[in-house]
Amino acid sequence: KVKIILDTDPGGDDAFALLWLLSLVKQGLVNLIAVTTVDGNVHAKYTFVGASKLLKLAGFDDVEVAKGIIGGSASDIEDAGSLHGADGMGNLTHMLPECTNNYETARFADEVLIEKLNALPGEITIIAIAPLTNLAAAEIKSPGILKKAKQIIIMGGAFLTHGNLTPEAEFNIAYDAIAAKIVFQSRDDLIVLPLDVTRKLIFTNLIAQNIIKVNINSAISRFIRSLCEFMCQNALSYRETNGLEGFLVHDAVTLAYLFYPETLSFRRALVKIETAGEWTMGKTLFDNRHKTKVGANAWVAMDVDPVNLLAAMSEDLKILIQN
Ligand code: BDR
Ligand code: CA
Repeated sequence: KVKIILDTDPGGDDAFALLWLLSLVKQGLVNLIAVTTVDGNVHAKYTFVGASKLLKLAGFDDVEVAKGIIGGSASDIEDAGSLHGADGMGNLTHMLPECTNNYETARFADEVLIEKLNALPGEITIIAIAPLTNLAAAEIKSPGILKKAKQIIIMGGAFLTHGNLTPEAEFNIAYDAIAAKIVFQSRDDLIVLPLDVTRKLIFTNLIAQNIIKVNINSAISRFIRSLCEFMCQNALSYRETNGLEGFLVHDAVTLAYLFYPETLSFRRALVKIETAGEWTMGKTLFDNRHKTKVGANAWVAMDVDPVNLLAAMSEDLKILIQN
C-alpha cells in the first residue's frame, strides 16, 4: 500500500481528487495516513471542514484531519471562493454529513507532518494540491524534514503557458510563493504537475453522470452531480475551458502520476520560484533552452493523455460509489 498524506484546500477539484484517493483506499492500494488542510481556495477553517465532511461522506472519517497554518506570505491575496463556492464545496455543505472534527481542537498541519515523517522516514508520499504553506512551515520548524518523505508530488506552477492567479503565475505557487521557494529547495526529486498539463483535464457533467449511474441515489452520487454542476456553471470555469462546458480537475492529476503514470510525460529540470518580481511573483521557471540539468530539483510534467486519465479516474470513482 502507498502511504499518503494529502495536503489540500478543498476546493471543487480538491474534492474530486480526495474522492478518487478514497476509492484507492477502498481498493486497498493506499494507506491514508492523514489529510492536512490549508488556507487557499477558501479560508483554512472551511478547507478543514470541507475535507472532514468529505471523509465522513465516504465513510473514512477515522483519518486524522489537521488544520492549516495561516499567515503565509500571500495572506493579502484573494481566495478562490468565487470559483469554488464560499464554503469551497460549491455552496453544497448542506448535502454533506455533520462530523465531529473540531477546527479549534484539531492539530496544526506542520505538527502532524513532522510527527508522521519522523515516525515513518522514507515511507510517506506527500501529495500537495494546495498552497505550500504547511510543507514550508514543517521544513522551517524541522529543517530537513521534507527529505524524510518518500516523495513529494505537487500540483502547481505554469511553465510554458500562462498562469491562473495572475497572467504569469499559478494559484498554488503564487498564493504563498515564499513557502513554495522553501519547498523547491528542500529536495532534488520533486514531482511537479503544472497547469500546462492540468488545463487539459476537462471534467464534464456527462462524465459525472456516467460515474454516478452505478449507484445513482447514494449521498455521494448526489453530491458529485451537484458539485460538478456547480463547477461547470461557474463563469471562471468557462474562462478556463475556453467556453466548453466543464471544469478543470487540476488536483486529480497527482493520483494519475502515482497510479496511472503512463498518462504523463516529464522533463527533468531545475525549477525556480520568482519571489521578487513586481509582475511575476510566484512564477515558476526552468531553463527551456535545454542547456543544462545542473542543480535539477524536479521532474516537471510536460504532457498528459487526458482521455485515459479521466477514464481511469471515472472507473475508480465508480468503485467508491458502488455498495
Ligand atoms: C490549483 O489552484 C486551486 O484553485 C485548485 O484547487 C488547484 O489546486 C490550480 O491552479
Ligand atoms: Ca487545490
